[in-house]
Amino acid sequence: MLIRCSAPRTLTIYHSTAAFLRLKSSKKSSSPIVSGFTCSVSCMTSLIFHFPLIRSNIWKKEFHSSTAMAKSKFEYVRLFEADDRCLPNTWIAVRVDGKGFHKFSTEHDYEKPNDIKGLSLMNRAATSVMEEFKDICLAYGQSDEYSFVFRKETQAYSRRSAKLSTNVCSLFTSAFVYYWNEYFPTSKPRYPPVFDGRTVLYPSNKNIRDYLSWRQADCHINNLYNTTFWALILKGGLTPTEAENKLKGTLSGEKNEILFSQFAINYNSESEMLRKGTVLVRRKVLVALPNGETREKSQIVQEHVDIIGDEFWNTNSHLLTVT
Ligand code: GTP
Ligand code: MG
Repeated sequence: MLIRCSAPRTLTIYHSTAAFLRLKSSKKSSSPIVSGFTCSVSCMTSLIFHFPLIRSNIWKKEFHSSTAMAKSKFEYVRLFEADDRCLPNTWIAVRVDGKGFHKFSTEHDYEKPNDIKGLSLMNRAATSVMEEFKDICLAYGQSDEYSFVFRKETQAYSRRSAKLSTNVCSLFTSAFVYYWNEYFPTSKPRYPPVFDGRTVLYPSNKNIRDYLSWRQADCHINNLYNTTFWALILKGGLTPTEAENKLKGTLSGEKNEILFSQFAINYNSESEMLRKGTVLVRRKVLVALPNGETREKSQIVQEHVDIIGDEFWNTNSHLLTVT
């Protein structure tokens, strides 16, 4: 009121006061002058008295510092960002999957139906992810996909879903390219490989075990099909269409029989990595020291074991235990 009725010079203060009030509402504003002004009307006298100084401060804050102004004026847009924090006390599975790997594997001459170098590169990239994210207790991979299980109680990135999936996916992809040369020393990637990523939550131990069982069952079904399909083509001389027709509607026993009777392949003797995929877990291993002694060290190890049955989980009960 006092300011409204005053002389033009005081009116200028009125405009400046509005600026002051805006500054005060901003988180960044901690000017003692602003606090002093707003705490009591009696401060108005001192405000007018110090006007030249105040005006110069306002000038600096509101107009000279364009970044500060941009922050206070536009910061509200952050409110449009969704809060995507994962529910507490739930298993977080992040799965990455190669985009168009049917084409990628063909363009890069992957062996059919399985390319050990390509699969080993996937395992290397996944190991990089586990090395970086200590809260991943287990990872499982097959074909062009990898699943990473975060501890139920993880606080990584405040459990923000997009942060988790994008960081895992980004690191996995860059590691895939970074280590490419170690597995394919004579060729470069013909184009940048792409992986998508998603976060899925599982509330119970049974749910997360069923999720991993689902992925391993998928590995088994696809690998048996692909092994038989490519045997019919590469060894049996069938065209892809003929092989597809022959396998249409067959059960797993029949595929096993085709492999054994026509190509002398015992499917159960095929490599465990191809039949079961790869599990990555941390194990204490003994490492040799330069002085000849040994020391226990936690290392990420690859295992090609069944994770559908109880045995793995009984011997690794710590994986599902909340600490
Ligand atoms: P999107 O994931 O939907 O983008 O399609 P995709 O082409 O990646 O197919 P999908 O993820 O369903 O399946 C993975 C594909 O990658 C398989 O169908 C194979 O064609 C290919 N692939 C993965 N691993 C190997 C391998 O070791 N050897 C060969 N030859 N192909 C592989
Ligand atoms: Mg894919």
